[in-house]
Amino acid sequence: MTRLRTAVLISGRGSNMQAILHAANSMDYPAEPVLVLSNRPAAPGLETAAAAGIATGAVDHKQFGKDREAFEHAMQSLLETHKVEMIVLAGFMRILTPWFVNKWARRMINIHPSLLPKYPGLDTHQRAIDAGDREAGCSVHWVTEGVDEGDVIAQARVPILPEDTAEILAQRVLLEEHQLYSRAARDILTRKKPLSV
Ligand code: GRF
Repeated sequence: MTRLRTAVLISGRGSNMQAILHAANSMDYPAEPVLVLSNRPAAPGLETAAAAGIATGAVDHKQFGKDREAFEHAMQSLLETHKVEMIVLAGFMRILTPWFVNKWARRMINIHPSLLPKYPGLDTHQRAIDAGDREAGCSVHWVTEGVDEGDVIAQARVPILPEDTAEILAQRVLLEEHQLYSRAARDILTRKKPLSV
């Protein structure tokens, strides 16, 4: 089978990236991780990826000041060097410009810790608790110009319990993220019907 050359973009811990790398250890997984790229040179996930034998790169967004496209051109050049065909955003904390998003249209997915369209952006768990929601979850979606606005590919749900803090809820959601992301990526790449949990 042809495996799509895939880059995982991170900014920090990289636990979702690790889940994807783990799934892709199986040779019948349709994505082949060829690069883990971070906008933070000190992101712990880079070491995890290197230890797993994956090429890593860092493009420090701070070196580009306000010029977001220049930062993205530097990333693009690394992506081209590694002949990347698909991008998986996994805790990548930069907003992407229309230039980059359009270049990777329908070839870039993201995971977001809420049941989109609820709570795009930050502090999703606290917002769900504050709203009195009874459930929370995570969504895998296509990346489009609007932040966290692209079509949802798959979702997983968890209950919100009475004693939950944002941290406890985040942990419960994160466990689901690790399962959902690799399954959703596999399903869209093998063009199965998107799953919903
Ligand atoms: C995850 O909750 C992800 O949904 C959000 O940022 C967090 C990243 O965690 N966008 P990790 O770096 O994958 O561990």
